[in-house]
Amino acid sequence: MILCSNRQWQHLCVVILLSFSAVKCEVIDNEIHKLAYIDDECELPDKLRKEIHSYQPIVNKIADEVLNGRFAGDTYNTLSEFIDTFGPRYSGTKSLENAIDFMNEKLKEVGLENVHTENATIPNWQRGFESAQLVQPHPQNLPMLGIGPSPATPAGGIVADVVVVESFDELNSLSDDAVRGKIVVFVPVWVSYEVTVEYRVFGASRAARKGAAAALIRSIAPFSIGSPHAGWQLYEDDVVQIPAACITVEDAEMLKRIYRRGVPITIRLEMNAKSFEPFVSRNTVGELQGHTYPVDKKVVVLCGHLDSWDVGVGAMDDGGGAFISWKAVEYLKKLNLRPARTIRAILWTGEEPAVAGAGEYQRGHAATEKEEFNFFIESDIGTFEPLGLDFAGNSDAECVIKEILKLMTPLNATSFATPMQGGPDIDLWTSRGFPGASLLNKNDKYFWFHHTYGDSMLIENSEYLDKAAALFAASAYIIADLSIDMPRDLQ
Ligand SMILES: *[C@@H]1O[C@H](CO)[C@@H](O)[C@H](O)[C@H]1NC(C)=O
Ligand SMILES: *[C@@H]1O[C@H](CO)[C@@H](O)[C@H](O)[C@H]1NC(C)=O
Ligand SMILES: [Zn+2]
Repeated sequence: MILCSNRQWQHLCVVILLSFSAVKCEVIDNEIHKLAYIDDECELPDKLRKEIHSYQPIVNKIADEVLNGRFAGDTYNTLSEFIDTFGPRYSGTKSLENAIDFMNEKLKEVGLENVHTENATIPNWQRGFESAQLVQPHPQNLPMLGIGPSPATPAGGIVADVVVVESFDELNSLSDDAVRGKIVVFVPVWVSYEVTVEYRVFGASRAARKGAAAALIRSIAPFSIGSPHAGWQLYEDDVVQIPAACITVEDAEMLKRIYRRGVPITIRLEMNAKSFEPFVSRNTVGELQGHTYPVDKKVVVLCGHLDSWDVGVGAMDDGGGAFISWKAVEYLKKLNLRPARTIRAILWTGEEPAVAGAGEYQRGHAATEKEEFNFFIESDIGTFEPLGLDFAGNSDAECVIKEILKLMTPLNATSFATPMQGGPDIDLWTSRGFPGASLLNKNDKYFWFHHTYGDSMLIENSEYLDKAAALFAASAYIIADLSIDMPRDLQ
């Protein structure tokens, strides 16, 4: 299906959907995401192929040191200490700013170069007290999480009758009179995150157009043990901003069954959420500077985001991704592997509220971006068992990346997939033709935990983090050191 066919919405769509991990504004269909083992379709010049293969001993050395040598277990240990020290790192909180201060010192301490922060103004939406209860046909608490940036309910909450719909089409088939003043509960069939998330993103706006008092949305997840999943949404410009929250998959399905039997449902919803003045936070930067090219040109970026949701501790989203990114740079430095071009670790702030941190960085660097950046690598779709890289870029760059992945046998991570999923921050560049990649990993359970209290260190695995950090280090080193710039077609 086409998510963002209307040009007028494309920009907003890109911005808002990016923050939901990995959605590109194009034909969205999981079938087109090919997971292909290396094939031989590419005709790279023999000289370049030989040059790429000359890096095999360096890949072997990185793999050996990170998997079995002095760095084995280090990424997990450092990440778990960080997570246990700072807990949730939610936008607008002191914990996030403390975590950023800590990382700024840490990157200096381990020897990264040009360590600094760059200001970024991010939304500051705080949920406050919130609750939902089924009133009719029987009393039952409904665990819920407000969706940013939802407004509060009127003081004392809303008590209203419920309309359950499975789709926007079903909502639109109802008269406005049937919806006015009601709580609309969206219970879409789970297809995939990319497809089903539109109910969280647009549900409140569509319900508001019909005069609804509030919207509740089935959490955007394929599997549940009673957890609501948080998230961000978009209020369309010309609608009343009604309160909106996610409820559990279990409760949403229950409400749908009751409603289909024709039994009246009443829900009480109370939310005290509030949007405060936008908050000045910081993106954190540290480098391994190139030995040949100007240090601020043709940079290879490795990145993940430091901020998390206020529920869970963001070990998966995106502690693991942020840590493999900067650890990769630390390991290269400590192995004295300095490439021709600069490798820059960026730890984004404010990704969860609509990719705000990376958005400000992109705008701040827009004037120089063509010369400044050569390649972007991000991890924000899990650090489960690494499989390889998920690529965005033209067919020439694709062939270079496929050839580089052939060297990753010591990491058992030689798979190539495209188009890229899971690069919400770097999509600000890759959607315009800059080449990039995200960590391809065995993340079929990612959306079980995403934006819930279940996002904890229990999901992370020391061996997989080592392999992922080694894959990022080896890939970034080769790309940053090759005699050619990464091919691209900028738009
Ligand atoms: C960054 O933000 C802080 C706090 O608002 C401000 O004091 C500082 O001047 C800003 N730095 C830059 C370079 O804009
Ligand atoms: C290599 O990766 C494949 C695909 O995930 C997996 O089935 C296999 O067990 C892995 N082998 C090793 C030695 O880790
Ligand atoms: Zn994330």
